[in-house]
Amino acid sequence: MEGLIDRSGEGLKRIQGIVKDLRDFARLDSGGLCEIDPNDCLRSTVNIIAGRAEQQGVEVALDLAPLPPITCDPGKVNQVLLNLLTNALDACPDGGKITLRTRAVAGGVEIHVIDTGHGIDPAIRDKVFDPFFTTKPVGKGTGLGLSISYGIVREHGGEIAVESVPGQGTRFTVSLPSAPRGAVPPPNRAIPMSKYKRT
Ligand SMILES: Nc1ncnc2c1ncn2[C@@H]1O[C@H](COP(=O)(O)OP(=O)(O)O)[C@@H](O)[C@H]1O
Ligand SMILES: [Mg+2]
Repeated sequence: MEGLIDRSGEGLKRIQGIVKDLRDFARLDSGGLCEIDPNDCLRSTVNIIAGRAEQQGVEVALDLAPLPPITCDPGKVNQVLLNLLTNALDACPDGGKITLRTRAVAGGVEIHVIDTGHGIDPAIRDKVFDPFFTTKPVGKGTGLGLSISYGIVREHGGEIAVESVPGQGTRFTVSLPSAPRGAVPPPNRAIPMSKYKRT
């Protein structure tokens, strides 16, 4: 009986953690611009895909540099990161490695999603951001992930770029400015995802 109660307690803690991750990720309590640390966005997105990565035998490595806070819509930025991570996992069906790297750059931040997957054929490289372009089977791919991500990044005044070597892997680079043009940065400093203040 004691063992059962202990294990139930552990189970409940895990559920609590999963619900917190999902809330952080979906920003259920948010909407609109606020100031965040992009590394927090990456960490909560990684938690969402960790189970699938483990199932596929894909190692997810974090190489996160200290970043200045950025003003963005965190729910949308999380959506971009989830799209890129899901694509990276799709490209590594038989295991591999995904590296998430962040760097502070002049005027903002750079986020790299690097995979050791099958890569992108140069013949279709220019099409991957097109709406409904997909190389995945019906029911798996919608072809909307990258076009939506492109829209979100542009809305934030940022850029998204891709480099790929077929058979070796792919790197997506998202550059985001400290604040979208015209956005009034909130007065508060960067605070944890769970405790941000709405602007
Ligand atoms: N990391 C990646 N490695 C290889 N190919 C990729 C990667 N990311 C995107 N692609 C290619 O770009 C296409 C479009 O991606 P996306 O817009 O997310 O749609 P979907 O994932 O539904 O196919 C994919 O079908 C795939 O061919
Ligand atoms: Mg996709």
